[in-house]
Amino acid sequence: MFKFGFSGDKEDEEEDKDMKNSTINWISASKVEVLEMQIEKQYEPVDYAENLIFPGYKLKLIRSEKALHDLRMENCANIVEAESQHSDLIPAKYEGGLKIWECSYDLSQYLFENNVEFQGKFVLDLGCGTGVIGLVALLKNSIVHFQDYNVEVIKTVTIPNVLLNFDDRESVLKRCQFFCGDWGSFTKLRSSNGDKFVRYDLIFTSETIYNPDNHKKLYEVFKQRLKEDGIGLIAGKSYYFGVGGGIRQFQNLIEEDGIFDVETVWKNREGLQREILKITRKQQS
Ligand SMILES: C[S@@+](CC[C@H](N)C(=O)[O-])C[C@H]1O[C@@H](n2cnc3c(N)ncnc32)[C@H](O)[C@@H]1O
Repeated sequence: MFKFGFSGDKEDEEEDKDMKNSTINWISASKVEVLEMQIEKQYEPVDYAENLIFPGYKLKLIRSEKALHDLRMENCANIVEAESQHSDLIPAKYEGGLKIWECSYDLSQYLFENNVEFQGKFVLDLGCGTGVIGLVALLKNSIVHFQDYNVEVIKTVTIPNVLLNFDDRESVLKRCQFFCGDWGSFTKLRSSNGDKFVRYDLIFTSETIYNPDNHKKLYEVFKQRLKEDGIGLIAGKSYYFGVGGGIRQFQNLIEEDGIFDVETVWKNREGLQREILKITRKQQS
């Protein structure tokens, strides 16, 4: 429905980008509390679709039309603006989290096929959107933090998707937390007891590397929030037409910093190239 914006002329595009960057205000990160009325809400079967996304796992996921409808009713300016522009992306306003992107299927499939250990692990679904990857981790008994830029996405899609897939809602909510806002300030967000940063065993991110202006902020989350023996998995396309980012650029940034070992652990065979990068901290010798 939405599309990444296209522009014909490369010079115009660069000029446009510089102008926009100087005026962009990124929203600060904060924790999103789940309200009692959300916990008690009953969903009608028309509100969601049941998808057999992975063998043996049927996930109930809020339909994006339903989320859009609710946000329109609430006059949610960012989403209404994105929809009116037929755009998947308005930098710092709407970052595309209402629908499930291709690479999150790749990453979830990879997690299933490679028997990643989830039991009791502390997981971050970074730029989670609908939260499919975090849901996989929750179903496999992890403690999951879901992070998305848009609070609207967290409230109308991510939280409902968690609640829809667990009968004991109170109990699953003890295993998850939700955050919105920019990666730049998310990195510095302290835990609710106020005195230490949370660090994760596993950080997953899918389709978040499209904007090269955000690469440093995104990388900093891995650098500062991944445990010493933690694993980061980054799923993305080789190139995002019309936006300029791509997986090689992000890989170069990580390699130049020299802190992580980086390895491509999965590639698709046909169509626009999609990949998964795995990062682990270099061992001190
Ligand atoms: C294209 S969507 C991908 C959503 C989901 N991971 C998927 O694959 O279906 C990109 C996601 O990155 C997040 N994002 C992009 N830029 C961000 C920023 N500067 N700070 C925080 N989150 C950001 C958005 O919240 C958005 O959900």
